[in-house]
Amino acid sequence: MSDTAQTLNERFAIPGLSFRADASGLVFADIDNAGGTATLCLQGAHLTTWRPKDQAEPVVWLSPLAKYAPGKSIRGGAPVCWPWFGPHATESGFPGHGFARTVDWKVIGAKALDSGETQIRLLLAQNDATRAQWPRATRLELTATVGKTLRIDLTTTNLDTEDIVIGEALHTYFHIGDIGRIQVLGLEGSEFVDKVDGGARKTQAGPVTCAGEVDRVYVNTAAECVIVDPDLKRRVRVAKSGSNSTVVWTPWTEKAEKMGDFGPGRANQGGWREMVCVESANALDNVVSVPAGEAHTLTVVYSAEAL
Ligand code: BG6
Repeated sequence: MSDTAQTLNERFAIPGLSFRADASGLVFADIDNAGGTATLCLQGAHLTTWRPKDQAEPVVWLSPLAKYAPGKSIRGGAPVCWPWFGPHATESGFPGHGFARTVDWKVIGAKALDSGETQIRLLLAQNDATRAQWPRATRLELTATVGKTLRIDLTTTNLDTEDIVIGEALHTYFHIGDIGRIQVLGLEGSEFVDKVDGGARKTQAGPVTCAGEVDRVYVNTAAECVIVDPDLKRRVRVAKSGSNSTVVWTPWTEKAEKMGDFGPGRANQGGWREMVCVESANALDNVVSVPAGEAHTLTVVYSAEAL
């Protein structure tokens, strides 16, 4: 059984961190400290909001039409894709991007750090359905450290007797002024798989800009990326370690309308034009082999600064 907000508050609430359930029954951790505010849904260990206090606008985008329901992924925030990225390699009935983002996680720690940041630690709770899709002894832990910056560590520990191979991503949706005017820097010269061009392999020339649907897996890149946003007059920095792929995604009009939970494609309405996904991943060529008894950590650190 999942922990209730009440039992979580009794065990883990600290100044700046409390738990609540919404009408759908999902439980959220609300964080509010001197550096920033954030919300994290325990289903999926899914961070849904983050705003540093020196930013008028959130840095993480959440769809105005986001739906909250048991077993469904929330549109926006920072979904955790694991233990595979995209469609499963052989089982078409298994969920895209794995099951970590739609199952319950357990809170295993909460701490107010000397830095003023708030840290919460969660552990994926396995069940019969997850074991049917991933019959390997594996521990998945996520730590979110919230303040003026946001750090997320995703650690996979292989408790099995044989190597495991995982695909993964922190599939973060960033809030921007307008998709047609941002640039993503840091991927210049990188090879990418273009999912809107039949998976063709190409090389990135210059900054990434978007004038239509973009769905690209950049491989063999550990580079920091920067989203340059002339409308919100800021740079959002996506620094990472333990990640050798970066995914850039925007659905654009047709796909966003078809998906139905993206909001309007007009200015200042909070919909898909105001978000871009820059995902720190290990996908395709970069799936990770974790030897028996060892651990692998994917870490991201997000920050925002004025242009
Ligand atoms: C991206 C993929 O990472 O996630 C896209 O590259 C996909 O192909 C997108 O459409 C959203 O996936 P989902 O399952 O959250 O709708």
